[in-house]
Amino acid sequence: MSDNTYAKPMLKEGSLDGKVILITGGGTGLGKAMGRYFAELGADLVIASRKLDVLEKTAGELENSTGKKVLPVQCDITNFSDVENLQHVSIEKFGKVDSVVNNAAGNFISPTERLSHRAFDIIVNIVLKGSYYTTLAFGKHWIANKQKASLLNIVTTYSWTGSGYVVPSAVAKAGVLSLTRSLAVEWAKYGIRSNAIAPGLFPTKGAWERLLPGELKDKFKPEKKVPLQRSGEHQELANLAAYLVSDFSSFINGEVVTIDGGEWLKGAGQFNMLEAVPAEMWDSIEQAIRNVKGS
Ligand code: HXC
Ligand code: NAP
Repeated sequence: MSDNTYAKPMLKEGSLDGKVILITGGGTGLGKAMGRYFAELGADLVIASRKLDVLEKTAGELENSTGKKVLPVQCDITNFSDVENLQHVSIEKFGKVDSVVNNAAGNFISPTERLSHRAFDIIVNIVLKGSYYTTLAFGKHWIANKQKASLLNIVTTYSWTGSGYVVPSAVAKAGVLSLTRSLAVEWAKYGIRSNAIAPGLFPTKGAWERLLPGELKDKFKPEKKVPLQRSGEHQELANLAAYLVSDFSSFINGEVVTIDGGEWLKGAGQFNMLEAVPAEMWDSIEQAIRNVKGS
């Protein structure tokens, strides 16, 4: 673990005691990092995705390191009967689920005109359909059982800006953001909160191999696009996620929290290219502007 404060666990011990949290895509990458921290804070977990062997390995690791229960469930979230089964086995095992983290996703870079309609479908089905399937299955259960709960959706900063070369992912994540905000209002009366996190660069095998394959990572040096000049640490994201599923954030509803070191705003601000101007040039630039009188 890094010595930096931002990469250290943030919440006090026991902050998630008694909670049961489901994380889709919880066997790998950011889902695994969030799950580890939730369990360290006292939560039992359900982790769900397509690859049971990966889930079982992660579940074993997390159970050993935290002493909490971790239920691995094979589930393709694009298939509603899998999702219904996920909901049934989770309740059977733990009696309740307090939070659903919609984290599972699929993505790859491609010029849009090279995509077949099936390539488009596969991404939208995982990201958008998968997220509303789990939301619907668990939401119906919570409402029928009058259980307070929370949804946490992992989106991206291009959910609102859009982005070329990842168009299926961008349209699907935009839908998930809309789902987050829509249900924040509609389901608040049932005590169900709905929030999102938009991470920037958080190196994971799953994302990096599909979005920056081969030499692209060295060619583009993605950290250079980030005003804070670094990528995020998994614990930083886990800290934020733990807060948003905890009762400490009980009044936060309908929010999307960006954690990207300022990356998307750098691309948005019209004059942000002036970052490239060396400090010593600013005296002469200022003089040139002041010399423009009355024009
Ligand atoms: C064009 C492609 C393609 C590519 C697949 N297809 N790869 N088209 N370019 N690189 C097409 C196929 O030809 C096929 O269409 C259709 O997509 C489905 O292909 P499959 O073979 O069924 O899919 P497969 O390639 O096995 O799997 C794709 C996937 C897989 C499901 C997306 O990569 C996956 O399981 N991903 C899960 C993990 C993941 O993606 N993690 C990253 C999340 S990162 P045809 O017409 O030929 O049948 C993320 C970060 C966002 O979201 C922001 C970061 C900053
Ligand atoms: P990852 O490790 O590839 O995670 C994706 C997970 O989704 C995998 O565990 C995968 O497991 C699961 N999944 C894919 N299709 C599924 C399906 N049909 N049913 C069930 N599970 C499925 O990538 P990651 O980087 O940790 O990404 C996690 C989340 O963060 C995603 O929502 C991503 O968009 C978001 N994000 C990441 C970054 C970043 O920099 N890493 C930036 C912005 C947003 P199986 O293969 O076993 O199904």
